[in-house]
Amino acid sequence: MSITDELTEVEQRAQDELAAVTDLNGLAGWKSSYLGKGGAITRLSRGMGALPAEERPVVGQQVNRLRATLEQAYSDAEARLKAAAREATLASDRVDVTLPGRQPALGRLHLTTQVFRQIIAIFAEMGFQVWESREVETDDYNFGLLNFLPDHPARDMQDTFYVEMPPDAPKTLLRTHTSPGQIHAMHRYAPNPLRVLLPGKCYRNEQVTARSEFMFHQFEFLAVGHSITMGDLKGTLDFFAERLFGKGTRTRFRASYFPFTEPSAEMDVSCFLCGAKGCRVCKYTGWLEIGGCGMVHPNVLRNGGYDPEKFSGFAGGFGPERIALLKYGIEDIRWFYSGDVRFLEQFS
Ligand code: DAH
Repeated sequence: MSITDELTEVEQRAQDELAAVTDLNGLAGWKSSYLGKGGAITRLSRGMGALPAEERPVVGQQVNRLRATLEQAYSDAEARLKAAAREATLASDRVDVTLPGRQPALGRLHLTTQVFRQIIAIFAEMGFQVWESREVETDDYNFGLLNFLPDHPARDMQDTFYVEMPPDAPKTLLRTHTSPGQIHAMHRYAPNPLRVLLPGKCYRNEQVTARSEFMFHQFEFLAVGHSITMGDLKGTLDFFAERLFGKGTRTRFRASYFPFTEPSAEMDVSCFLCGAKGCRVCKYTGWLEIGGCGMVHPNVLRNGGYDPEKFSGFAGGFGPERIALLKYGIEDIRWFYSGDVRFLEQFS
């Protein structure tokens, strides 16, 4: 084959192959086989050495023209493939900026926390400070120092979970009420007067039902000072009840028994659901039971570091879940800690 025919053939083949190249990778391969060091053009230039001298300038020109043609074809193809790649990226990365955004799910305070905050605010107005006490207690703090006698049946009503301890350690348990916090607070403040609100978790080894959970919350209020009377307790609770349940809410005390108070009382509030006329929730009595209270027993004052001849005090323990059950007409306490957001998100 003459070199001129070869040039024509190389050009034809190069153009055909180039037309079949579909990406930049393929293009690089094409370039090295035609324009690269070991490529067709280099091979043709070298072949010129075998030509008679008079033919060389003509063929040289033809080879140079072919090189220029292929270089041009290469840069055209490169531009075309780069544009196509960009188009493909734009298409696959396309976002629809007109779509509405995704709403993040907003959390909110748990109902118990909300009720606690209301209660804390009310007691804060009366000078009570929040004092957080431990959930894991010794038997002594939970019972003994609160004047529970070792075999008194009042203990039976508060079975709980015990913590495994070394044999010589004191008996340790999950507190059954917030009352042991009273002793800790008194130890911290005696012999100065104190006014504290103790909110927190409590535990009881009980059958879980619509009315009782093995974990629940209480808040304890405690005031110790000089010449504090039952009148102060009543006044405090009247203010509390009107603030929490609405103006005109009345309170009443029924005699009761707790080892750590003397005298002891259950406090009821007039039913705020029916205006004390009588309804299903107040069982047609007009009254709702809210919690226990009383005057701090002299033994408890003594255990806390106060001289009961010089100091007196009042205390009480209420449950925020019970308050919320009544206030919002919730039928089952198990909803509180079920983790079901459909329940929780109703209260915000
Ligand atoms: N600790 C009692 C209970 O869990 C409630 C209670 C009653 C607390 C009377 C008090 C109180 O501080 O004075 O049943």
